[in-house]
Amino acid sequence: MIRVGIIGVGGIAKGRHIPAFLQLSDLCQVKALSDVNMVQAKEAAAQFNIPHVFENYQDMFTEVDAVCICTPNKFHAEISIAALEAGVHVLCEKPMALSAAECEAMLAASKKSGKVLAIAYHYRFMKELQAAKKLMQEGEIGTPLVARVQALRYRKVPGWGVFTNKALQGGGSLIDYGCHLLDSAIWLMGNPKHVTVNGCTYNVLSKTPGQVNQWGSFNHETFDVDDHVTAYITFENGASLLLETSWAANIKQDTEHISISGTAGGLNVFPFEWYGAKHGMLFNSEAAWIPGEEDPSIPQAANFLAACMGKAELVVKPEEALQVSQIIDAIYESAGQL
Ligand SMILES: NC(=O)c1ccc[n+]([C@@H]2O[C@H](COP(=O)([O-])OP(=O)(O)OC[C@H]3O[C@@H](n4cnc5c(N)ncnc54)[C@H](O)[C@@H]3O)[C@@H](O)[C@H]2O)c1
Repeated sequence: MIRVGIIGVGGIAKGRHIPAFLQLSDLCQVKALSDVNMVQAKEAAAQFNIPHVFENYQDMFTEVDAVCICTPNKFHAEISIAALEAGVHVLCEKPMALSAAECEAMLAASKKSGKVLAIAYHYRFMKELQAAKKLMQEGEIGTPLVARVQALRYRKVPGWGVFTNKALQGGGSLIDYGCHLLDSAIWLMGNPKHVTVNGCTYNVLSKTPGQVNQWGSFNHETFDVDDHVTAYITFENGASLLLETSWAANIKQDTEHISISGTAGGLNVFPFEWYGAKHGMLFNSEAAWIPGEEDPSIPQAANFLAACMGKAELVVKPEEALQVSQIIDAIYESAGQL
């Protein structure tokens, strides 16, 4: 039984992680919550029937074996390192941290302590992504050449929380949303080393007063992050990736797209399709059924707990999450934002 604590008891903790760990009651027990906002922490403890609440996350470390960090991005590195140094396993929300330098410090703390450091890139646990990875591993598309990645929302800037605050989050649509699909695509490609990164960032729309926004209102004056980003990334093995992500695009509808063309075939992740030549013909194949959980939170929590028990490898390795942060840093730097 792994004793789990949750640090930062806001939207993602209550909506995803606490319910997932509670479902895995044969593997773990959610023992404690911690939040700087004690009213919020106590309400959640009552809602989910969690026995202990701490204002200071450090006080939790003697009570638990593992923590799930769900604070704003600014605190990911500090809290992860403190937990690892205290001998506690960590599942940290994405992005891994504000910068690649912080991620490297987290990785070093994990290596020194020998404790697990997992990053919650939960898209990897979606059944379409798992199916795509299986096809790639079985050589169905050959060597990946070109990846196209889109994470686009039609006028959905988050109007709650601290998502539009650069000091707390490190950026906007790219570090918050595009990071998921970027991570997934690079993982499918086998995490080749990136060589060049070019990017453009925009926030003209969100800085303009009186915007129509589907996800509540935000202050255009204090908005200081990107709301639309494009990037072109090349890799050591000659592959390339075209990325577009936005919270505020003027497009027909929200779009989540990952497709990869390879030397032997191609695939599309949402919906899952395979394209390629067989028997002297060209096929476009749709998946009629894919095994797996509908909710990726459950396999994500299960994989983390199994890794803590030494029974499984992490699906999302911290070195891979570090690469995503290196590319995000490079996109912002290329766009003149660092
Ligand atoms: N995986 C996903 O798809 C997904 C979705 C949403 C958010 N997230 C990530 O989850 C994290 C939290 O996002 P959220 O939407 O839950 O935000 P939120 O604002 O709803 O909750 C954050 C909570 O952290 C608390 N907090 C702030 N500083 C703290 C500190 N130093 N110590 C302890 N608690 C602290 C706040 O009081 C708040 O209760 C972010 O890193 C975000 O990127 C991931």
